[in-house]
Amino acid sequence: MCGIVAYLGERNAYEIIIKGLKRLEYRGYDSAGIALATDNQIKLYKRQGKVSDLETYTVGKDLTGGTGIGHTRWATHGEPTDNNAHPHLSFDGSLSLIHNGVIENYSSLKQELISKGHEFRSETDSEVVIHFIEDIRRNNNCDLDEAVRLALTKIVGAYAIVIIDQNDPDLLIAARKSSPLVIGVGKGEYFIASDATPIIEYTKEVVYLNDHEIAVIRKDGLKLKNIEDVPTNPYIQTIDIELEAIEKGGFKHFMLKEIFEQPKSISDSMRGRLIAAKGHLVLGGIREYVNKLVNADRIIIIACGTSWHAGLVAEYFFEEWCRVPVEVEYASEFRYRNPVIRESDVIIAISQSGETADTLAAIELAKSVGAIIFGVVNVVGSSIARATHEGAYIHAGPEIGVASTKAFTAQVTVLSMIALVVAYKKGTISETKYHELLTELEIIPEKVETALKLDQKSKIIADRFKTATNFLYLGRGYNFPVALEGALKLKEISYIHAEGYPAAEMKHGPIALIDEEMPVVFIATKDSSYDKIISNIQEVKARKGKVIAIISKGDVLIPKIADYILEVPITHEALMPLVSVIPLQLLSYYIADLRGCNVDQPRNLAKSVTVE
Ligand code: M6R
Repeated sequence: MCGIVAYLGERNAYEIIIKGLKRLEYRGYDSAGIALATDNQIKLYKRQGKVSDLETYTVGKDLTGGTGIGHTRWATHGEPTDNNAHPHLSFDGSLSLIHNGVIENYSSLKQELISKGHEFRSETDSEVVIHFIEDIRRNNNCDLDEAVRLALTKIVGAYAIVIIDQNDPDLLIAARKSSPLVIGVGKGEYFIASDATPIIEYTKEVVYLNDHEIAVIRKDGLKLKNIEDVPTNPYIQTIDIELEAIEKGGFKHFMLKEIFEQPKSISDSMRGRLIAAKGHLVLGGIREYVNKLVNADRIIIIACGTSWHAGLVAEYFFEEWCRVPVEVEYASEFRYRNPVIRESDVIIAISQSGETADTLAAIELAKSVGAIIFGVVNVVGSSIARATHEGAYIHAGPEIGVASTKAFTAQVTVLSMIALVVAYKKGTISETKYHELLTELEIIPEKVETALKLDQKSKIIADRFKTATNFLYLGRGYNFPVALEGALKLKEISYIHAEGYPAAEMKHGPIALIDEEMPVVFIATKDSSYDKIISNIQEVKARKGKVIAIISKGDVLIPKIADYILEVPITHEALMPLVSVIPLQLLSYYIADLRGCNVDQPRNLAKSVTVE
């Protein structure tokens, strides 16, 4: 969602901020703006549209100055217009603010400020914040950082904010609650951003701001305090991301690059954790509380979107190997349902970004009733990683394409390892099966590499179906979540309506949709429900549907009945989602690209959904 970039130092702030905003474009946005504090004035430029539109607008304008804030806005309160774009000014125009998040009590604060004579230039909740800070500073005759602190004690909602002051241009003030903010520490210069991607080309030293922390930044130093006015110590960490990881590296889109990175990202997720020949499987991050998982009466998995699909695959792992009941919940439903969480339950929260607002809120809810939470997260240092008791990073590397691909396979890999650790400790899996699965898991990257060879064949099938208006995805058992994931991938980037179903459910409704125009994708690899799924394919063919089947290498039956086949390497049934999802990712990618869609930044979508 909204992207934040700010700079304070000797360089030209505009150039650093524009470059940074481009690096954050993947988060999804509909307008962009920059404010520079120099020469006792705030120079403000904002535009609906892309960062490139903002750049065009600023040609020939005064862009000097070493202090500035920039923002990409994903509209919540008010349409995407120039006026609603950030940064926003205080009423007197001396302060400017960028904000990511939602202010829940903005309406009452706004009414109060209007009654004091404030006029607003936008419809946003964010503008109210800077007017409110201005009002507090005036009434209390205090420094800006104190006014910010006092304001934040009254503000209800989620925020990451950065503020500049035309009368004190050597100052940036930043604060956060439930929305991410990272401060890059250079030599006599500071960078602030929603995530580390705009920062890493300048410095690897970063401070992740904690909830309720306020940063007061000047060229000669960074000071932190909390909302209770107690100073806190900045914890400077070195981040381990290289610039190449956030660039396209010759691929047309980040999504395609990330699909092709999967042999490596899956390997990275197992690196140092799994050595099959030695029977070694250790996840350092879950050591302390692992017995909670072993003794759990129930595991509740919470997540959204693709991460929820990875959770569904994990449900099969834990039930089959650990013999423990599992519930997989949409975080957004779980948090509002007054769920029953017992002491013997354990929660696993899955999130690529580690910033998804609903997942974070569901974690807080579960924590408030004493539950132990494990995180399966990609982004190191993210809010969810820090909010959970223990967890395992998936180490997939930065995922920039809005459509999640490599995070899904790395999540499934890590969840399979967690389930195997637990099953082994519980004694619910035989030695033979355990070793068989470790061995198979270790060579999965090679099988994924082979599945990626379906690239051109997927493109040909994509070309045949690029004008379809509906798609049905069907799978059974472990391949049912893969069907859901295939349908989500297609709809989010190509805007074609697609539904995923357990294949057996087809007869209970979706079969009515089938005619000669309807492409039906079957994930029909050779597993325990192979015979059943062949019957489902026959049912679709009998109604003249067009069948695209993902099949196991060497299958001779399905090629006789399906219209199109995509053959993937054979692996253990439980690990098949790691392989069978590959052609579905490729198919979606090519359909979207052939339709001329903006694959990496699909309309209306954001990479990390930081508002509920
Ligand atoms: O960062 P998270 O894994 O928590 O994000 C959850 C969903 O927003 C995400 O998976 C979304 O569904 C993707 N766009 C799917 O490709």
